[in-house]
Amino acid sequence: MSFPYLRPRRLRKNLYLRDLVAETRVSPRDFIFPIFVKEGISEPEPINSMPGQYRWPVEKVTKIVSDALELGVRNVLIFGIPSYKDELGSSAYSKDGVVQRAVKKIRKEFGDEVVIHTDVCLCHYTTHGHCGLLTRKCVGDFCRDVIDNDSTIELLGKVAVTHAEAGADVVAPSSMMDGMVRTIRKALDEAGFTDVAIMSYAAKYASAFYGPFREAADNAPQKGDRRTYQMDPRNGEEAIKEVALDVEEGADILMVKPALAYLDVIRRVREAFPHYPLAAYNVSGEYSMVKVAAANGLVDEKKIILEILHAIKRAGANVIITYHALEAAQWLKEGL
Ligand code: PBG
Ligand code: ZN
Repeated sequence: MSFPYLRPRRLRKNLYLRDLVAETRVSPRDFIFPIFVKEGISEPEPINSMPGQYRWPVEKVTKIVSDALELGVRNVLIFGIPSYKDELGSSAYSKDGVVQRAVKKIRKEFGDEVVIHTDVCLCHYTTHGHCGLLTRKCVGDFCRDVIDNDSTIELLGKVAVTHAEAGADVVAPSSMMDGMVRTIRKALDEAGFTDVAIMSYAAKYASAFYGPFREAADNAPQKGDRRTYQMDPRNGEEAIKEVALDVEEGADILMVKPALAYLDVIRRVREAFPHYPLAAYNVSGEYSMVKVAAANGLVDEKKIILEILHAIKRAGANVIITYHALEAAQWLKEGL
């Protein structure tokens, strides 16, 4: 026998042979498409920091949802940008808040043709822009502003119930407060929403990759940063602790966020919790870096986006939250 007799290239010589042995397939059914809904506008507003994405008025949000459905993207994640903010984030749990109205409208128009996920957090609704309530805490005569965990999670429970009342299928708490999943589960169950699922942002890092989103959704902290609640990017093992807690508290779907600089974390969580659905959030910075590079002719847009989506799935996520959902669904349909 002549050397080399083991030739992996044999299986790469034809497109359909490569397709046959491909380990990973991505489908529009894997995607959750994030949608920004904003109060006080009458036309969709382009988001400068995220080329190709828009903020939608409640009145027109069904347009973008129907575009998604037409492409086979059946899951959407609703973020709200309210016109009124206060210290307590009270419009987050108002019955006719922006997310609540959008959800009602989408449900009324499309019934069960769409799965509606909602972001449950306070940062879009608080004047200070933090994901929890701020209180001043003094020890002796030294005082500092802190995020109060336990009053925040009670409010998050209230927010989740108003989303469920509007018709959400899945609530997605993103604040990284301790005990948020159990508190939300309890609030939903007590209100009779035992069938509303929780997708927990279980391992969410304090990441610079969220930059473009903060402009898009107006949720930047006015002072300080989120490092007292979101995870330290230097930690990988700690993700297992965070995820384990959310599992114990009743999370139905787990999430790692961001995706690309954290593919190792996705893999670890997949291996530690093989029996749970795992989502990865392909965040705004990951999206915009690619879009800007492609617009400047530096990379092949379709190829790089499909490569990224397959990589996230290969790492172990079975659900991908991505702003690329619609364009990628189109390309997958064209068989690229
Ligand atoms: C905050 C929140 C963030 C994102 C969604 N909700 C991050 C943050 O502001 O810290 C980021 C999503 C993205 O960048 O695409 N609850
Ligand atoms: Zn938040």
